[in-house]
Amino acid sequence: MSLIKIRNVSHDFESDDGPIKVLKNLDLSVERDSLTAVVGPSGCGKSTLTRLISGLLKPDRGEIFLEGEKVVSPRSNVGMAFQNPVLLEWRTILDNIMLPLEIVAPKMPKKEKVGRAERLLSLVGLADFAGRRPSELSGGMRQRASLCRAIVHKPKVLIMDEPFGALDAFTREDLWQVLLDVKAEEPFTGLLITHDLRESIFLADQVAVLSGRPAMTQYLMDVEFSEKRNIELLFTAKSTAMLKELRKQIRIAQAS
Ligand SMILES: Nc1ncnc2c1ncn2[C@@H]1O[C@H](COP(=O)(O)OP(=O)(O)OP(=O)(O)O)[C@@H](O)[C@H]1O
Ligand SMILES: [Mg+2]
Repeated sequence: MSLIKIRNVSHDFESDDGPIKVLKNLDLSVERDSLTAVVGPSGCGKSTLTRLISGLLKPDRGEIFLEGEKVVSPRSNVGMAFQNPVLLEWRTILDNIMLPLEIVAPKMPKKEKVGRAERLLSLVGLADFAGRRPSELSGGMRQRASLCRAIVHKPKVLIMDEPFGALDAFTREDLWQVLLDVKAEEPFTGLLITHDLRESIFLADQVAVLSGRPAMTQYLMDVEFSEKRNIELLFTAKSTAMLKELRKQIRIAQAS
């Protein structure tokens, strides 16, 4: 059974010029502990899709299931990470990371919360920055901290909306590796929205290309590498062929 199942979802928004049809009969399934990347033209409805899956928004038509249960309201077993990490300046990095635990596991002993946050910080290479404030960290470091905060309460699903979009190319590649390392240690089912096709094949088990608005799943690509993923894999003929096909699909989506 797929952990995330999106079935025939359609959604419109009202605007002064009448309804905007954003998603139409969209189907997508994500297997447990796998990662699906979603790519598509700007404005096609990717962020809308994340809000629907997390229960922040209710689809006009169709259904979304998490572990077979219909999503009807926001839930705590979904973690979110965004392009601009919103960390609270009046809290230390450690305290920022513990925040979700304070909300979903208020009875967890403080020592346990600290232990969990510290473990994640060291996993992403930020052990020495636990006591710092967000403004004392670089953009890439803040994004690492934000990743820790998104998974500290062990959500079943991690939804990431262009989490690496604001980073330079090399920091971005470092964080891809960090994400894979974290996922290997603490598996989760992930949905990654991105505009970076290399990122999509490096991180995902499945890439979904959405069409132009109203968006539906136009194309699905399974991504399998026999070796452990490392950046060199992106320079192979196999990757080039995948990227070429995805680029073609994006062109079709842009024209749709
Ligand atoms: N709350 C809202 N009210 C009205 N229209 C909205 C709302 N949210 C999004 N839209 C519209 O829905 C469409 C899809 O927006 P969305 O943010 O989902 O696109 P996106 O694929 O994430 O774009 P990008 O790639 O630029 O991030 C856009 O036309 C946007 O203007
Ligand atoms: Mg968006």
